[in-house]
Amino acid sequence: MEGLFITFEGIEGCGKTTQAKLLYEYLINRNIECVLTHEPGGTLISEKIREILLDKKNYNMVYLTELFLYLASRSQHTFEKIIPALKNGKIVICDRYFDSTLAYQGEGRNIPKQKVFEINNFATGGLIPHLTFLIDINEDVGLERLKERKGKDRIEEEEINFHKRVRGAYLTLARENKERFRIIDGLGSIEHIHKEIVNIVLKFI
Ligand SMILES: Nc1ncnc2c1ncn2[C@@H]1O[C@H](COP(=O)(O)OP(=O)(O)OP(=O)(O)O)[C@@H](O)[C@H]1O
Ligand SMILES: [Mg+2]
Repeated sequence: MEGLFITFEGIEGCGKTTQAKLLYEYLINRNIECVLTHEPGGTLISEKIREILLDKKNYNMVYLTELFLYLASRSQHTFEKIIPALKNGKIVICDRYFDSTLAYQGEGRNIPKQKVFEINNFATGGLIPHLTFLIDINEDVGLERLKERKGKDRIEEEEINFHKRVRGAYLTLARENKERFRIIDGLGSIEHIHKEIVNIVLKFI
C-alpha cells in the first residue's frame, strides 16, 4: 500500500491533538496531501459510536462492551477512510489508534492482552501504523493540563493509578515495537516537540 500512516498516542493531556494538528498544517502548507483524523470517530458511524463511549450516563458499561465498541468504531474508520486514503498515496495522521486499545483495554481494563491484540488486528484487517509517536508525560502533568477543560468525560474520570498503568503500558509497547515507535518527551514546549516530530516525519517521506 502506498501512503504513510502516522498515529499519535499517549495518556490524556500529553499533547496528541495539539501535535497532530500542527503536523497536518505543516504538511498541508508544503502541498503534501494528507488527512487528519482521530479515534474514536473519524466517520459518521464511528462518531455515533464515540458518543456512546464517552457518555457519562453509560457509567455501567461492561469492559467488553467498551472494547467491542472501540473496535467497531475502528473497523468503520479503517475501511471507510484510512485505507482508501493510503491507497491514494496520502499521509494519514490519526489522533489515537490501535495502541490506545492495547494500553487502555489491555492494561487499563485488564482484558487479556493477547486476546485484545488479536481482535484489534482483526478489526483493522491487519493494518498497523508505519510510524507512531508516543508523547510521554507523567500522569499528574497530563491531568493537571486537562483541569481547565470543562466537564470530564467518562474515561478521564478514571483514577490517577489507572493513567499511571496506561502510561506504563504505552512505554512497554514502544520498547517492544521499536521500528515504528518514537518516544517524544511531552514536557518540552509545543514548538520544540513539533520540530522534533517534523524532523522524524521528513525522514519517512
Ligand atoms: N508541550 C506542551 N506544553 C504545555 N502545554 C501543552 C503542551 N502540549 C499541549 N499542551 C496543552 O495541554 C492541553 C492538552 O493538550 P491536547 O488536547 O493536545 O492533549 P491530548 O493528548 O489530545 O489529550 P486527550 O487525550 O484528552 O485528547 C491543551 O490545553 C494544550 O494546549
Ligand atoms: Mg486530544
